[in-house]
Amino acid sequence: MVQISEVKDEQQSSSRESRTSAHTHIKGLGLTEQGTAKPMEGGFIGQVEAREACGIIVDLIKSKKMSGKAILIAGPPATGKTALALAISQELGPKVPFCPIVGSELYSAELKKTSNLMENFRRAIGLRIKETKEVYEGEVIELTPEETENPLGSYGKTINHVIVGLKTAKGSKTLRLDPIIYESLQKERVTIGDVIYIEANTGSVKRVGRSDTFATEFDLEAEEYVPLPKGEVHKKKEIVQDVTLHDLDVANSRPQGGQDVLSMMGQLLKPKKTEITDKLRAEVNKVVAKYIDQGVAELVPGVLFIDEVNMLDLELFTYLNRALESPIAPIVVLASNRGLTKVRGSDDDDKKAPHGCPPDLIDRLLIIRTLPYVGRCIGEIIRTWCQYFFTLCVTIIDTCWGVEYQCWTFGNNYSRHRRM
Ligand SMILES: Nc1ncnc2c1ncn2[C@@H]1O[C@H](COP(=O)(O)OP(=O)(O)OP(=O)(O)O)[C@@H](O)[C@H]1O
Ligand SMILES: [Mg+2]
Repeated sequence: MVQISEVKDEQQSSSRESRTSAHTHIKGLGLTEQGTAKPMEGGFIGQVEAREACGIIVDLIKSKKMSGKAILIAGPPATGKTALALAISQELGPKVPFCPIVGSELYSAELKKTSNLMENFRRAIGLRIKETKEVYEGEVIELTPEETENPLGSYGKTINHVIVGLKTAKGSKTLRLDPIIYESLQKERVTIGDVIYIEANTGSVKRVGRSDTFATEFDLEAEEYVPLPKGEVHKKKEIVQDVTLHDLDVANSRPQGGQDVLSMMGQLLKPKKTEITDKLRAEVNKVVAKYIDQGVAELVPGVLFIDEVNMLDLELFTYLNRALESPIAPIVVLASNRGLTKVRGSDDDDKKAPHGCPPDLIDRLLIIRTLPYVGRCIGEIIRTWCQYFFTLCVTIIDTCWGVEYQCWTFGNNYSRHRRM
């Protein structure tokens, strides 16, 4: 059975690394309220028409009037196509999934190219799950495992129960919990003074942060301080979870076996994850559709950005056309710096297509053109980038110096304290 609650552990495994350091100076499209582009804003210089066109697309996506459509950003090399796509993602905000890939990434020795494309499609479709759960929430004031003699007669002791004391602004409660929950508490590295919540039905533990009564005066803290929860310890809480369909696929692709010794051995020998099949995806879709009908979840179509789309071959283009027809498709943004060129994988060597895309895909694309820069613009772009890079270096040096100074002060105080 497909489960949504399993996703939390897997979320990090499916997130992609961002490799966009060349565009760190881009902060958005730099548009006014009316949607007109300021000549120099958001890290952008010029390329006014393309930025305004991207602004309209952002508005359409935000008002959920655009999904399953494809956009092509076309223009000569280094005219800001990738920068525009990143600016679109920044304008959409962190809650809308944005999955950037390069065309050539789809070819792999391990995974079928079409399966790889589908995986990225599903990374770009989000699901916001809202659930009202019965929880125990508060600041941990007691955490004592109760040990007993091992029933199997060996020397070690086993944990029988764990006593957890939780405090809120309204009162406190002491809970006697199962040893399984003690493992979850250890996994989340919960200590006294942390604010946590424990789901009553599943027993899963979530560490919210450290109680702000424990905040110190040092600004060199990696901790997140949270206020003492209001209300009772035992209450109903609305929990919002943002996941992508790919997260759900990964969470449900574990080989499932029985509890007997043979199947447990089998699980040890098998690789940890099975391949995500179309059947599994269909199963996940079914459950997701049910959750949407019940009003528990909401679909958040995101953006799949495929850079250098001319690297895709005919098979991938055919698959892309089919995937775009699906009712839960994301917005697909393509980019190409090729003019008339051969479509990869096509039989006819002489036949060329615009931007390396087959004509049937071109017909359904909305094309945004980027124009080559004149000399002054190039100078300005280089200057902005250098300025940004310089400020970044100064901030890094400043932070390092601050860390060193604080360590030095701490070291001095510590040795003085020991001498006393
Ligand atoms: N209008 C602009 N304003 C500010 N910086 C820009 C602008 N256009 C491009 N840049 C910067 O110039 C560099 C090259 O741009 P980018 O990689 O977006 O070009 P591209 O069109 O994607 O090129 P390619 O076709 O080679 O992929 C990047 O660092 C980008 O941030
Ligand atoms: Mg590019």
